[in-house]
Amino acid sequence: MKLENRVVVVTGSGSGIGRACALEFAKAGAKVVVADLNIQGAEETVKQIEEIKRTAIAFKTDVSNPESVKQLVDFTLKTYSKIDALVNNAAIQINKTVEDTTFEEWSLQMSINVGGVFLTSKYFLPYLRETKGSIVNMSSVNSFFVEPMCAGYCATKAAIVGLTKAMAIDHGHEGVRVNAICPGYIDAGLAEGYFQVQPDPEKARLEAGKLHALWRIGKSEEVARVAVFLSSDDASFITGSSVVVDGGFGSGLPPQ
Ligand SMILES: NC(=O)c1ccc[n+]([C@@H]2O[C@H](COP(=O)([O-])OP(=O)(O)OC[C@H]3O[C@@H](n4cnc5c(N)ncnc54)[C@H](O)[C@@H]3O)[C@@H](O)[C@H]2O)c1
Repeated sequence: MKLENRVVVVTGSGSGIGRACALEFAKAGAKVVVADLNIQGAEETVKQIEEIKRTAIAFKTDVSNPESVKQLVDFTLKTYSKIDALVNNAAIQINKTVEDTTFEEWSLQMSINVGGVFLTSKYFLPYLRETKGSIVNMSSVNSFFVEPMCAGYCATKAAIVGLTKAMAIDHGHEGVRVNAICPGYIDAGLAEGYFQVQPDPEKARLEAGKLHALWRIGKSEEVARVAVFLSSDDASFITGSSVVVDGGFGSGLPPQ
């Protein structure tokens, strides 16, 4: 198997795309640390991995809290002795304009979505250097093509693209690769939350599909398989990239 005996930490893997990543990494042979603030969700992910006879362990983590992230690093090293791949997936999405967003909401979203990538990368990098490992940061097509009512979220996802390139050039010579994934609409928590604040959520869900050349929203595992590829030796000359997984969202104007 592609990732046999590799150790992978996936943040925000108690649901949605993160859970799909944890499952795909486990299927590829990796031992997975399922890190999420929602420990019940993380334990459910572990249960699903154990059902397919693979190895994973849950750890309650707040990616916006330095002490919590340091505990995640210690736990990973004590449990599996090393880390080969880090997937920074945890995020929240506040569906508001700048004018309607409070400073507390802005700060919270920045500290989880961007601060979380900073903190986990900062504290795992010394160990990723030892294994010549890799980082995958979950960004979004919203870093290139923005939509109404999620200004702060779009800003955080664009920041992740910049941070990905910066870490790639700082750590490439040490053998650490850093890439981002930019998904289109995916059948997971944050997209569903966005649909729910639109005037007609069902219509919004159907119309979102048509924004993609493939006329459908994506499945979480379609993103997860790319995270596995980027973390594997098959992607050994890919770093600093933002890989778009969007069913053609960015290819042209939607049908009228
Ligand atoms: N769903 C989409 O359409 C879509 C599209 C593009 C990008 N993305 C990105 O994919 C990622 C996952 O999104 P999703 O739709 O699966 O969302 P989701 O809400 O299903 O999953 C997010 C997970 O992050 C966890 N989390 C939140 N705050 C945390 C914190 N402080 N510390 C640790 N964990 C925390 C949540 O508990 C949850 O399990 C996000 O980075 C998102 O920006 C999603």
